[in-house]
Amino acid sequence: MTLKERTQVGIVGAGPAGLLLSHLLALGGVESRVVEVRSRAHCEARQRAGMLEPATAQLLRDTGLGRRLDAEGLEHDGIYLQFAGERHHMNFRELTGRGVTIYPQTEIVKDLIQIRNANGGIAEFGATDSEVAGLDSDLPELRYTDAAGQRHEVSCDVIAGCDGFRGICRPAIPAGGLRTIALRTYPFSWLGILAQAPPSTDQVIYARHERGFALHSMRTPQIGRLYLQVPADDDISQWPDDRIWDELSLRLAVPGWHLRTGPVLDKSITGMRSFVATPMRYRRLFLAGDAAHIVPPTGAKGLNLAVADVAALATALIGLLRYGRSDLVDAYSDTCQERAWRATYLSWWMTTMLHVLPRQDPFDSALQIAQLRNLTSSRAAGAMLAEIYTGGAPVRFDPSPKASPAAFLGPESLVPAWDDSR
Ligand code: DHB
Repeated sequence: MTLKERTQVGIVGAGPAGLLLSHLLALGGVESRVVEVRSRAHCEARQRAGMLEPATAQLLRDTGLGRRLDAEGLEHDGIYLQFAGERHHMNFRELTGRGVTIYPQTEIVKDLIQIRNANGGIAEFGATDSEVAGLDSDLPELRYTDAAGQRHEVSCDVIAGCDGFRGICRPAIPAGGLRTIALRTYPFSWLGILAQAPPSTDQVIYARHERGFALHSMRTPQIGRLYLQVPADDDISQWPDDRIWDELSLRLAVPGWHLRTGPVLDKSITGMRSFVATPMRYRRLFLAGDAAHIVPPTGAKGLNLAVADVAALATALIGLLRYGRSDLVDAYSDTCQERAWRATYLSWWMTTMLHVLPRQDPFDSALQIAQLRNLTSSRAAGAMLAEIYTGGAPVRFDPSPKASPAAFLGPESLVPAWDDSR
C-alpha cells in the first residue's frame, strides 16, 4: 500500500539547508516535509566547516536559533595568514567592523532538528528509493519509502532540492532545464582531522608552505580542527596520526610557536571543486545550497551560502504559497547567483593563493608570496579580503506580505553600509 499525501513544500535533504528551510517556512505558516536518505545520527555527526559570517549568525539568532550559538560560539576578530615562515594577523573587525563566529555546522544541524521536533515538524530520516516526479506538472511528487518500509507519494506545490552536490534533484531536471554548469576541479584534496587537542591559536591560521597548505581551526577550547593539502588521489590509510601531526607541525611552524597534539577523533579526505548550476530553478523545483553550487572549503563559504539561499527561498515560497505572488520566486535564482559567484571568487582566490600545485613552477610560487605580502601590508588589499570573507548583508528573511524583491537584488545587498550596532 502506498500512502498518498499532500504538503506545500517537499524538501529533499536534512542538511542545514533543508532543515533551515523547513524551520523558516514554518515561521511563515507554510507546511513542509523533509526527506533524508541518511540517518539522523549520520547528519548530526557529519564534520563540516564551522565559520559563520555575521549575517549568517544574525539570521540564526533572529529566527530562534541563537541560544547555543551565543553560549558556545567563538567570536574571532579575523584570521592569520602565514607564508615564508611569518604569521600575519588580518584584523577583519578593524578593517570592516565585522568579525566571524566559529560554530560548527554539526551543532547547527542538531539545533535545527531539535527546534523542528519541538514544533511538530516532519523529517523522515533513513528514507530509501526517494525520487522526484511530475516536474512538468503543477503538482510534482516526492516519493520515498520510510525507515519502517512504508511507501509514500507526497504531492507538493513546490519541491526544494537541498540534497547536496550528489543529490537526486538536480539530475531530475530535464535536458535543457539548466542553462550552464560551471565546473572547476582543483588538483589536490584536504585531509581534515578533529583532534582532542586544545587549539594552539586564538584565531584560524591559513598557512602557505612549500610542502602545501595547512589550516589550523578549532571547535571548542578543547577540540582542534586542522587540515592539510594532500594529493588529489591520496588514500587516508597512508596517513597514520603521527604522520599527520608531523606534517602539520612542519607546515604551521613559526619561530617560538609550538603545535599541541592529541588523539585524532575523526579524519577524512575531501576533494576540492567549484561548481555553479544556473538557473537554480526548474518550474516548481528550486535548488538551494550545495545542490546548486559547491565551493572549495578555503574561506568556509559553503554553509554561509546555503543559509543565504534558504533565507531568500523561504521568503519567496511564503510569498508564493501564502500571498499568491510570483515576483519573489522569479527573482530567487538571480538573487542567489550573484552571491554564489562572489563566494566562488573568494574561495578560488584563497585556494590558488595558498595551495601548491603538484609541479608548481617558481614563477607561480613567487607570485603567491607577492600576493600574500601585498595583502598583509596594504590596508586596501587587506580590506578587500576582509569584506568578502566576512560577507555582505543578509538576504533578509521576511515572511510578511510586504517582502520586497528589491531587498534581494541590487548591489546594496552585497556591499552594505553595515550597521555597526548589530
Ligand atoms: C574551517 C574550515 C575552513 O575551510 C576554513 O576556511 C576555516 C575554518 C573550519 O572547519 O573551522
